[in-house]
Amino acid sequence: MTDLSGFRKEYLSSVLSESQMESDPMLQFEQWMEDAIRFGMPEPNAMILATSTREGKPSARCVLLKESNERGFVFFTNYQSRKGRELNANPFAALVFDWHEMERQIRIEGHVEKLSEKESDVYFHSRPISSQIGAWASPQSQIIDSRETLDNSFCQYEKKLTDYPSIPRPSYWGGFIVIPYLIEFWQGRPNRLHDRIVYYRNDENWQINRLAP
Ligand SMILES: Cc1cc2nc3c(=O)[nH]c(=O)nc-3n(C[C@H](O)[C@H](O)[C@H](O)COP(=O)(O)O)c2cc1C
Repeated sequence: MTDLSGFRKEYLSSVLSESQMESDPMLQFEQWMEDAIRFGMPEPNAMILATSTREGKPSARCVLLKESNERGFVFFTNYQSRKGRELNANPFAALVFDWHEMERQIRIEGHVEKLSEKESDVYFHSRPISSQIGAWASPQSQIIDSRETLDNSFCQYEKKLTDYPSIPRPSYWGGFIVIPYLIEFWQGRPNRLHDRIVYYRNDENWQINRLAP
């Protein structure tokens, strides 16, 4: 068995102090996202999305953040996928950005809503045509016979949809927005005494606290 017990890294690159933080965590998030892009993080918009069944059985996977705005964090998926079904039954989610190379982590928790049909249409049509066909061809999260079945399904939809002036968005595919009630910014520090600044939404205001690492 691989021995992992010796892997240990000291975090030295930066500090996080209350006085530097924005009073609005969405602005703070924008700043950290810009830092991550400047730093050259590969796919800085990749985030772990955790959902759970109504009974509280969790599941997690990576998705891409496509927009962050004053309301929340937007991603796109198949509404009939496992995550789609879980969010339908229990509309709460957690997100994690692990920007390991920057010794930073952001944790977000919130209530989840579907985007409007119009917003999903706009994003769907901004995707490459092959991705639009892919959304039709793949019954995401369902068991399929083989890779060949998937490739054949893609070819069939490709033939069928190329006649359309614009490929329609499948009704089962679209966006979700995570409307946050908690956002935590984590900066690695020496001796495992990391900085953790957390924002809790209190009605329309955000309350800021420091958490022990
Ligand atoms: C870097 C990365 C980005 C991904 N982005 C998305 C995405 O934006 N939307 C999506 O539905 N799946 C995305 N996936 C695939 C998901 O991780 C997952 O396999 C899929 O959505 C099915 O998840 P589910 O069965 O839990 O619903 C991505 C995977 C990786 C590794």
